[in-house]
Amino acid sequence: DLETGKPHMGSKSGYGWMSGPAIKPIALRVVFELAQAVKIPIFAVGGITKGEDVIEYTMAGATAVQVCTQGIIEGAKAFGRIAKETNDWLDSHGYSSLDEIRGITIKYMKNIKENNYITVPPKVYLDKCVGCGICKVVCGYKAVEIENKKATINVDKCFGCGVCTSKCPTQALLIPR
Ligand SMILES: Cc1cc2nc3c(=O)[nH]c(=O)nc-3n(C[C@H](O)[C@H](O)[C@H](O)COP(=O)(O)O)c2cc1C
Ligand code: SF4
Ligand code: SF4
Repeated sequence: DLETGKPHMGSKSGYGWMSGPAIKPIALRVVFELAQAVKIPIFAVGGITKGEDVIEYTMAGATAVQVCTQGIIEGAKAFGRIAKETNDWLDSHGYSSLDEIRGITIKYMKNIKENNYITVPPKVYLDKCVGCGICKVVCGYKAVEIENKKATINVDKCFGCGVCTSKCPTQALLIPR
């Protein structure tokens, strides 16, 4: 607590548990790393509230998933809903089972490493660029110059981090997929 310096938690130690969506990015990363390190099944858990979360964990290498917090908040119907959303996502994307997407992120990253991935710099859409220079300010790699009131990217310096694309007020920068 900012005013008193006391912990918010009521426990003897001052610590509490963290669960729900706040831990999903961390748990997802851990599943991704574990799936590359071990051959045993991985049951992923942490912040699963919807079908897309199941898809993400499966793509990162999960064998199965668990849900705790959402079941407490929403009640038992959460499990059927999440399962249905997962199936609907698979159907709408042309997959017949989770096996078809399991670990595809790992395969993708392995492919990138083996094929000497080349940085993809953003493309500048000159008709949208108003020359404000925000991209030049936010680029930590000094890869942007403003010439004749238009942004230009030095592809040799660009790291492909995408910061400029997220800050451009006119969506004049886009990293091609
Ligand atoms: C109220 C509550 C009780 C929990 N009890 C246990 C437990 O007894 N054993 C255990 O391994 N994990 C326990 N957990 C952790 C959950 O199994 C789960 O790993 C964690 O909450 C993250 O998933 P979630 O975001 O779906 O809740 C508990 C979590 C909560 C919120
Ligand atoms: S932030 Fe966008 S609009 Fe501004 S100079 Fe850069 S590309 Fe052009
Ligand atoms: S993608 Fe990153 S490194 Fe490249 S120009 Fe934009 S901010 Fe700079």
